[in-house]
Amino acid sequence: MNNYSNTSRVTIKVLEQMKNEGDKISMLTAYDFSFAKIIDEAGIDIILVGDSASNVMAGHETTLPITLDQMIYHASAVVRAVKRALVVVDLPFGTYQADSKEALKSAIRIMKESGAHAVKLEGGHLAKESIERIIQAGIPVMGHLGLTPQSIYKFGTYTVRAKDDDEANTLIDDSKMLENIGCFSIVLEKIPNILAKKVASMLKLPIIGIGAGSEVDGQVLVSHDMLGMNKDFSPRFLRRYLDLDSLVSKAVKKYSSDIKTGSFPNKEEQY
Ligand code: KIV
Repeated sequence: MNNYSNTSRVTIKVLEQMKNEGDKISMLTAYDFSFAKIIDEAGIDIILVGDSASNVMAGHETTLPITLDQMIYHASAVVRAVKRALVVVDLPFGTYQADSKEALKSAIRIMKESGAHAVKLEGGHLAKESIERIIQAGIPVMGHLGLTPQSIYKFGTYTVRAKDDDEANTLIDDSKMLENIGCFSIVLEKIPNILAKKVASMLKLPIIGIGAGSEVDGQVLVSHDMLGMNKDFSPRFLRRYLDLDSLVSKAVKKYSSDIKTGSFPNKEEQY
């Protein structure tokens, strides 16, 4: 099924309809103008300016160091490129946990300064008040449960979450709560397929999985990972669609050797 590929603009309403009609939602990260343009023109439904920019763009070990100003910089570039997809931006670590007023101020800065369409933030009941306040201000919020990388030092590892009953029940309660307070979608990261399936069938809002199996309403991956730009990151859930690392390396080596042998530029490549 693919009834929405001709939609000129993906909105929250379109995503709702896609879930109702069993039309799967595609989502991918982007952090800059050039990639966002390619990804949008290829027909991805949601573009996430993820705080994974902290890892793949800035080279940090975790998502924690990236700042609100840096997220706004990335998001503005993405928004300038995108014509069709819904653009969602992560609220970075430290910009919404302290209190709900600060959370709202951070979300407003993202919307106002980047032109994005929605924000995403990690957490369940602890983030409830902040999410409510942001939604009340008219800003659409995507939730994020399961493995929440901003809490890596609490978890200690990036392993699969909610394998035991207690954590699974908390995740179910948190998902219901996020729907009740008005989130338009939830990302479920690295949890058992059976639990993700249960949440997706229980809730009306679209559930987007990453490492959460196939029985949810859509999938998200980090673009750098699915394009094969990072040989050192190979979780089971990742499918690589390209070996960009080797392709770029080969092209750069050839360019360098063409310069050194004097074959670049040739007569046609000069004025
Ligand atoms: O920051 C990010 O890229 C994300 C996705 C992994 C869902 O949150």
